[in-house]
Amino acid sequence: MSFPEDFAWGASSSSYQVEGCAFSDGKGLGVWDIFCKRPGVILNDDTGDVSADHYHKWAEDIELMKQMNLKAYRFSTSWPRVLPNGTGKVNQAGLDFYSKLIDGLLEAGIEPYITLFHWDYPFELYCRGGWLNNASPDWFAEYTGVMVDALSDRVKYWMTMNEANVVIGQGHTQGISAPGIQLSTPELVRVLRNMLLAHGKGMQVIRANAKQPVQAGSAPGMGVGIPATDSPEDIEAAKEYMFETSSPANGFGTPWWYDPALLGRWPESAREFELPGCEMTDEDLKTICQPADFLGMNCYFGRHVRRGENGKPEVLPRDQGYDCTMKGWVIMPEVLDWGVKFAYDRYKLPIIVTENGMANADIVSADGKVHDPQRIEYLKRYLSSLGKAIDDGIPVKGYMQWTILDNFEWRFGYRERFGLIYVDYQTGKRIVKDSAEWYSKVIETNGASLND
Ligand code: GAL
Repeated sequence: MSFPEDFAWGASSSSYQVEGCAFSDGKGLGVWDIFCKRPGVILNDDTGDVSADHYHKWAEDIELMKQMNLKAYRFSTSWPRVLPNGTGKVNQAGLDFYSKLIDGLLEAGIEPYITLFHWDYPFELYCRGGWLNNASPDWFAEYTGVMVDALSDRVKYWMTMNEANVVIGQGHTQGISAPGIQLSTPELVRVLRNMLLAHGKGMQVIRANAKQPVQAGSAPGMGVGIPATDSPEDIEAAKEYMFETSSPANGFGTPWWYDPALLGRWPESAREFELPGCEMTDEDLKTICQPADFLGMNCYFGRHVRRGENGKPEVLPRDQGYDCTMKGWVIMPEVLDWGVKFAYDRYKLPIIVTENGMANADIVSADGKVHDPQRIEYLKRYLSSLGKAIDDGIPVKGYMQWTILDNFEWRFGYRERFGLIYVDYQTGKRIVKDSAEWYSKVIETNGASLND
């Protein structure tokens, strides 16, 4: 297994999940601040009010990242922290926070990767219709401009959005995540269109205003088809499944994001979701489709697929009692091999795995340490699978483990721990888990220790 010399070994986080400091230092309200106040929607009524308190503990966190040999840190900036009303007045304290964080990372030799929108949406804009409002792409462009102006002298890697599909599916369709609403299909088409336009306009702003040459893209979630056998028929069927247009119920799917954004076309069956007045036009595509420098993909699991008797991809039922993470997500390392191969085949861009990792029920042992052999096993298998794709010639530029710190896992609150670093939420104390030490060895040897 040979990872490229400059491979970005990293870890990810997102603003609402780690920062805390939800109601002070000039931050405006976000949709999660409000959603968490709805009784019963979050496990144990947990909130991100304090979470890992990264807002105050960032320097200590960078020190731990440095000890881990981390090369890259992917984090998101909080739109309501920087623009409390979503547009207009800037909260300087918010910008200062990100500026200090970036300086600290660069001093530690860690490359910052910014995601501009990771579900942390200003409540004030939601009250104006949120992503349904046709002005919303311009609101996002304004926010992007503020961030690029302030930070692009130091930040080279930019992502517009994280998992628009999940924001749409869970937040606007099922209503089980913020903002917690249930829209009709034509409305969802409008939301998707506006998020895509926001992405396109954001990319234009990044290109036009960046103070140095930058790399820009986005980070959608990707479900992957795994061929049931090595036969060419099943391989093709699995690929077709991965790029099948899926329904609004799961926030649309991969091709709904990347086909317009990168190929400049709507997925073939998109028309069936349109109603008069809510069409997706070719005019929109001119803004949406902007050249990207890399293909971000958040990737955790997939489905086994074979060529069915009717000629269509057939999804195989899951085995009973399959091995899974604490989230119930099946452990399927092959998604990183097949996923990047299929994605590269369709979009022809270098790939960054922007998220992958394991939820676990980690506990502090009597020796004061956190032993998480399952996570080590998980990461070893997934990274080896990614290494296989690299060996087979796919240009993969980086891997961002989800997540650096245990944090607020959305509607599951603090039950699940995804971090390389354990967080004691009562005291804020950090404990470096065994998996973090293991990962630092992988980084130090540029992947060679995966063969041990
Ligand atoms: C992703 C999401 C992250 C994180 C992770 C684990 O879908 O972008 O915020 O929560 O899943 O559930």
